[in-house]
Amino acid sequence: MPDFYAVIGNPIHHSKSPLIHKLFAQETRQDMQYEAILVPLDGFEPAVRAFQQRGGKGMNVTLPFKLEAYALSTRLTDRANAAQAVNTLKFNGNNDILGDNTDGAGLVQDIEINQRVAIAGKNILLMGAGGAARGTIMPLLTLKPRLLAIANRTKEKAQVLQRQFSAHGNVLSGHYHDFSGESFDIIINATSASLHDELPSLPEGIFSKESLAYDMMYSQELTPFLRFAQQQGVIKLVDGIGMLVEQAAESFFLWRGIRPETKKVIEMLKNKGH
Ligand code: ATR
Repeated sequence: MPDFYAVIGNPIHHSKSPLIHKLFAQETRQDMQYEAILVPLDGFEPAVRAFQQRGGKGMNVTLPFKLEAYALSTRLTDRANAAQAVNTLKFNGNNDILGDNTDGAGLVQDIEINQRVAIAGKNILLMGAGGAARGTIMPLLTLKPRLLAIANRTKEKAQVLQRQFSAHGNVLSGHYHDFSGESFDIIINATSASLHDELPSLPEGIFSKESLAYDMMYSQELTPFLRFAQQQGVIKLVDGIGMLVEQAAESFFLWRGIRPETKKVIEMLKNKGH
């Protein structure tokens, strides 16, 4: 029987992970299966244990279970530890569960390799201070930006992140309006505002024509954040499809020891429409 994997979440029907991993497996000639598992909001742990008992080798974890996956892991990679959230589980027999977080690596891979925008020496504005934002901070700081400014509607949450990570780089925090008058090379939307078709109130002047506006969310149309950036004259508008495929590739590498090609998969998802 082939090794089998799954993505677990609630909701899960929209997940592109089964398709992405099927394409990776074909390309790298790995004999494996990958399914999507919907579990009730209070059913995460039993579902993971049952999957592991059936012989499953690993799981991707999506909303809203990334914190529970972190708590359930018996070992953590450094990046999962820094993120305090887990999106990838690897089962190594017995009850050993390795927790990893590949989201931040997926983001920086997409920015640096696919978009060809270097992070070193840049001014970055990170919008949001929830789990999605937290997971990107160490991977971004590792690449030595000049400044990482964390802006959040609830300023205190951004301040907590600043305190946690400032030993690793030049980190600022504040409300969005605190950064009024400053312009950034890379602006990353890690809030969940787009989900509700909303947009944090961004001050004038944070974008320049050369900025990269990056939304970790994706949708068929431009997200509200990318629409706003476009209205401000930004040309480089990128949504989260590349990050999605890159984080999947990192998970695949953790499980199989082989790094799949991502370019064709990203193109395919883009052409299909999200
Ligand atoms: P996730 O794990 O996806 O990051 P989260 O922990 O609930 O989810 O965090 C959501 C983030 O989006 C937070 O930074 C939140 O701001 P607050 O901390 O002030 O709540 C931000 N967010 C969500 N909706 C928003 C909106 N309409 N305007 C501004 N920020 C918003």
